[in-house]
Amino acid sequence: MTVFYLRQLSIFAMALALAVLLGLLGAPWPLVWLQPPLALALAIWRQAPRWWWLLHLLMLPAMVLALDAQLPAWAYLLAALLLFGLSRNVLTDRVPLFLTSRAVLEVLAARLPPGARLLDLGCGTGRLLFGLAQRRPDLQLHGVESAWLPWLWAYLRARLAGLPQVRITLGNLWQAPLAGHDVIYAYLSPEPMARIWHKVQQEAVPGAWFISNSFAVPDVQPDECIPIDDATASTLFIWRLTT
Ligand SMILES: C[S@@+](CC[C@H](N)C(=O)[O-])C[C@H]1O[C@@H](n2cnc3c(N)ncnc32)[C@H](O)[C@@H]1O
Repeated sequence: MTVFYLRQLSIFAMALALAVLLGLLGAPWPLVWLQPPLALALAIWRQAPRWWWLLHLLMLPAMVLALDAQLPAWAYLLAALLLFGLSRNVLTDRVPLFLTSRAVLEVLAARLPPGARLLDLGCGTGRLLFGLAQRRPDLQLHGVESAWLPWLWAYLRARLAGLPQVRITLGNLWQAPLAGHDVIYAYLSPEPMARIWHKVQQEAVPGAWFISNSFAVPDVQPDECIPIDDATASTLFIWRLTT
């Protein structure tokens, strides 16, 4: 992971160095105009993911505009803290925050076994848990989340709504024990799926279900695939564990 970000940083820095060099050699354009297209060219050449092309292109002009706005230093610190509080897991697990759709909720509510104890690995703002609590009061619902802001939102909501069947824990999903749950739900990203599957195999009890929203486990056939009619054309992958 660190290597990935170091690579992107090196592209930005190389483009900056080239722009400075061209400036010293007498190029007539201001540095701020030169660096972004150079960064874009390097990103394409180094085969960086496409969304980084745009980031490289916009980074320097955005910095110039921000300096121009003359914001107080604490505004940057606050923005960085909020960003970290909201999406710290992008840095470590490459998992951002996005929420389970209503259509997925409806399908799960119709299919989950009676009285099941469900664990949402990375529960975000608790959208899945609260949605299920509304539709299926018989379920025991537990979510673990490590980003402070979504965790706080979910925790307060569970407290204020007085929902005893919803439990929200601040913690790392890699340390969350899976035993004692009948259904393990994950809506993460392609990045951690192989490692999640390993954890599920090590810890989940026979008979438990592992459900991944939209992200398959590499090289492991699910027992069931349910296409969902929602905005992102989600698919629910379900594995029923036998051993
Ligand atoms: C795509 S969101 C899904 C949110 C929720 N499960 C839902 O379906 O609406 C993934 C969540 O997993 C959390 N997450 C990622 N890695 C984590 C980790 N190692 N420990 C705890 N939470 C994590 C992220 O912060 C994010 O809130």
